[in-house]
Amino acid sequence: MSLAEATPFPGLKGAGSGRGAVTFLPPRAALTGPAEMLLLRPIVRGPWVLQRTPRLAAVAWGSHPQACTAWTPSRTHGTWSPGDGSRRWKVTAVGALLGLGAGLAYGDHRRRAAEAEPKAEAAPGAPYPVFTRQEVGRHRSLAERVWVTYGGEVFDITDFVELHPGGKSKILLAAGGALEPFWALYAVHSQEHVLEILRAYKVGELSPEEQSQPSQGDPYSGDPPRHPALKVNSLKPFNAEPPAELLTETYLTPNQLFFKRNHLPVPAVDPASYRLRVEGPGGRVLALSLPELKGRFPKHEVTVTLQCAGNRRAEMSRVRQVKGLEWGVAAISTARWGGVRLRDVLAHAGYGEEEEEEAGEQHVCFEGLDKDLSGAAYGASIPYRTAMGRGADVLLAYEMNGEELPRDHGYPLRVVVPGVVGARNVKWLGRVSVRREESPSHWQRNDYKGFSPAVDWDTVDFTTAPAIQELPVQSAITEPAPGATVPPGELTVKGYAWSGGGRGVVRVDVSLDGGRTWRVAELTGEEQRPGRAWAWRLWRLTAPVPPDAAELDIVCKAVDASYNVQPDTVEPIWNLRGVLSNAWHRVRVTVAED
Ligand code: MTE
Repeated sequence: MSLAEATPFPGLKGAGSGRGAVTFLPPRAALTGPAEMLLLRPIVRGPWVLQRTPRLAAVAWGSHPQACTAWTPSRTHGTWSPGDGSRRWKVTAVGALLGLGAGLAYGDHRRRAAEAEPKAEAAPGAPYPVFTRQEVGRHRSLAERVWVTYGGEVFDITDFVELHPGGKSKILLAAGGALEPFWALYAVHSQEHVLEILRAYKVGELSPEEQSQPSQGDPYSGDPPRHPALKVNSLKPFNAEPPAELLTETYLTPNQLFFKRNHLPVPAVDPASYRLRVEGPGGRVLALSLPELKGRFPKHEVTVTLQCAGNRRAEMSRVRQVKGLEWGVAAISTARWGGVRLRDVLAHAGYGEEEEEEAGEQHVCFEGLDKDLSGAAYGASIPYRTAMGRGADVLLAYEMNGEELPRDHGYPLRVVVPGVVGARNVKWLGRVSVRREESPSHWQRNDYKGFSPAVDWDTVDFTTAPAIQELPVQSAITEPAPGATVPPGELTVKGYAWSGGGRGVVRVDVSLDGGRTWRVAELTGEEQRPGRAWAWRLWRLTAPVPPDAAELDIVCKAVDASYNVQPDTVEPIWNLRGVLSNAWHRVRVTVAED
């Protein structure tokens, strides 16, 4: 079935459908619904009563997925009405034809879409024209109009370029050619609602002899094998967490079960030719091989908990839909990392404590060897003092739990920044530099930041919020599982607790009655050094089940060394990216009858 046959606007198909774009404008009133409404301008074809109106599809997305509504034209009246449920478009990929995951600047897209000029109309009824790949290839810029192919169809996406959430430069990489290689890299695009958007821009078909799919490799075919117990959040790129009940079985998370958070394919790095590029002061550059790193600098081992900024995001989405992978409570894990200290390597490159004194706003920037199609590497940075401060435990790690660093976790070398959000722990490390500015990476500047619940995709401005570094206090229940039936009598509740910045966990409170009464859990696992408490504590509580209880509302909350405590509910900390989700964790269970 071609994309056209699968049109989301069945009313537009039929005898009269054919070449020519029809323009629609939903009444202004129809566009003033949900605050997060996003306007796009797909071309819709069909035998329409045509007015000289801008083509416009308004994709409204409410605060909940169920509120997502596609505005589609009504055939009878030529007006716009909310689409049916099958056409609800998720905002996560709205407009995302290609680029770095789902993009972020939706508010800007809305404004620009609203301002955009309508295009010329063409007569309806004619069949689509046929183009060769060479002809498509002439449309590579905004001046020549931007065409792409997908399957056997040709699309003019010129009007979409500015709206692309992943940015204009990313989408232009595909100009004049096939989308498939890009969509293979960014699997977020391979979804029905993204195809729906693309369909609206169709202008022709590829000549039959050229319709075979362009040959393309799967950029993820070289990814390593993974453990089947992992709960996969996304396959390409690979993102997965262990089942919660396995997470706290052991203090150190087995490497195979350690949560995995990749933005791109896992690069294949040849250890023999690998060199770490370290840019020192005055233009001095070091290129360190693995044997040099291991031989020249003392080995250092630290037990560190890594937590993704999006850990427990699914709970935020239950309050109001957020954009991002729906992590449960296990996007957090702990390992004993072995490697060399970053401060030793930077000192060798020529940086010293004087720089630390006057460091001010200096940053240590990291680049991974995993690159997107534009050649941009995954990158992040940390403040200079985090890396160089006395007692800094930031590692360039080549070992994880006594084994060679696994490929998914950054082989052959990664950064481990204790107490700091996972995103700054750059894997497959290729380059280290010290700069006055933070890393220019998308993931440093335009992601992994927290905002007020008042900020939405229309109003968000990523320059106004600092990049997340140290994470707030966190705890969660790993046993029993939500919805489990527990025996009457006595119940054991288990979980983990951790705080960023080296602040140890001093206490975990557990309630079986939704927070009315509390007991103090027993902390287990390694004692942590004050101020350098880089790893989690596990905890358990065994308590009698109230004899008359049919259900239990189990709650936990941790207190850290600065007496920070988790907030009791999600609503006040809700944010559009679903990061820093650390409200009291609640698990409801049923008590079995005696
Ligand atoms: N480093 C590179 N080069 N590429 C990545 O995609 N993901 C980051 C960080 N370092 C990432 C990266 C994120 S968001 C997290 S949470 C951690 O790696 C996850 O580390 P893990 O996969 O070893 O658990």
